[in-house]
Amino acid sequence: MSEVMHGLEGVVAFETHIAEPDKEGSALRYRGVDIDDLVGRVPFGNVWGLLVDGGFYPGLPPAEPLELPVHTGDVRVDVQSAVATLAPLWGFKPLLDTSDDDARDQLARTASTALSFVAQSAREATGQAQVPDAVVAGAGSIVEQFMTRWRGEPDPRHTAAVDAYLTSAAEHGMNASTFTARVVSSTGADVAAALSAAVGAMSGPLHGGAPSRVLAMIEEIERTGDPLGYVKGVLDRGERLMGFGHRVYRAEDPRARTLRRVARELGAPRYEVAEAFEKAALSELHERKPDRVLATNVEFWAAIVLDFAEVPASMFTSMFTCARTAGWCAHILEQKKTGRLVRPSAKYTGPGARTPDTVPGWNPD
Ligand code: ACO
Repeated sequence: MSEVMHGLEGVVAFETHIAEPDKEGSALRYRGVDIDDLVGRVPFGNVWGLLVDGGFYPGLPPAEPLELPVHTGDVRVDVQSAVATLAPLWGFKPLLDTSDDDARDQLARTASTALSFVAQSAREATGQAQVPDAVVAGAGSIVEQFMTRWRGEPDPRHTAAVDAYLTSAAEHGMNASTFTARVVSSTGADVAAALSAAVGAMSGPLHGGAPSRVLAMIEEIERTGDPLGYVKGVLDRGERLMGFGHRVYRAEDPRARTLRRVARELGAPRYEVAEAFEKAALSELHERKPDRVLATNVEFWAAIVLDFAEVPASMFTSMFTCARTAGWCAHILEQKKTGRLVRPSAKYTGPGARTPDTVPGWNPD
């Protein structure tokens, strides 16, 4: 096979039992279970168990009390670096020399500690003192512990919103960061190396996304009180409406549908304005592009749910990281079990064979 598949689009590189979006059917299932039956209904810690262990076991242990070793002021950078340090700290061997059971336990320890690092870094970034470990230990689920470490005394409705969001974004098939996690684990590197590499891959704006851009549009509609006029104005200027359209789905993004339900159930204060914006956008997009399915994507309703939980826009990518750690862990383990190194090829299109003296800068003396 010598045809170049740019960006690996359409290339099927792995078999997976974990999840793959149903692009035509507008569905996403974690090990066969529709996310709408999980989001806001099964705690994120158990969804982690479903993805990684195949059952609703309380998969994530409490985070081990550890001080965040890196403080850069950027939560994502702190977490990426801190996760990498766990391998020498906890004596992780390369995956190649680790049993499947030990690898699974290392992933669980690392994932829950990554959540703890996000909360610590968020407090650090805003100059707040850390919440004592004893207070965190008194909280219940893994998400309650996370929110307690971050907020001190979180509003339970905010915790519910964050839990729902984390489940909705826990896994999404062979996206760039999950592919990265699989590539690194296929080399036999340790689990912390694979997870921190995935965090790096997610940091790019083409992947980590920016629901904050949706909120900027909502704020503008709140100001003008005219959703349809706003939508027409954006489209007339040739700009895009944030939170609509998707590279993969040719129907509504199932995560948008589920998070819309969560926002409604939680009574998110921006639910009504968001719904009015969505209605105006969908009708106008349909009128202008009747041949193209342009529906609401996950970022739209994720923005409303995270906004309700008072998550600042600067934390959106880190929240996404917390969520997707579940999918990464599942894929790292699945890849380990294949025992196969990922090593694609490239079609060479550079210069033909030549001698060094034809290369600019040649100076043998
Ligand atoms: N608003 C207005 N027009 C749009 C939008 C939108 N949100 N999305 C696509 N279109 C139009 C394009 O202008 C294009 O029109 P044209 O054929 O006249 O040039 C047509 O629909 C097809 O657009 P593509 O770029 O081919 O759509 P693609 O599937 O490649 O892009 C993308 C998907 C990048 C998500 C796009 O829909 C977009 O920019 N949306 C807004 C940003 C956004 O919400 N991003 C988050 C995506 S969800 C996620 O990444 C997890």
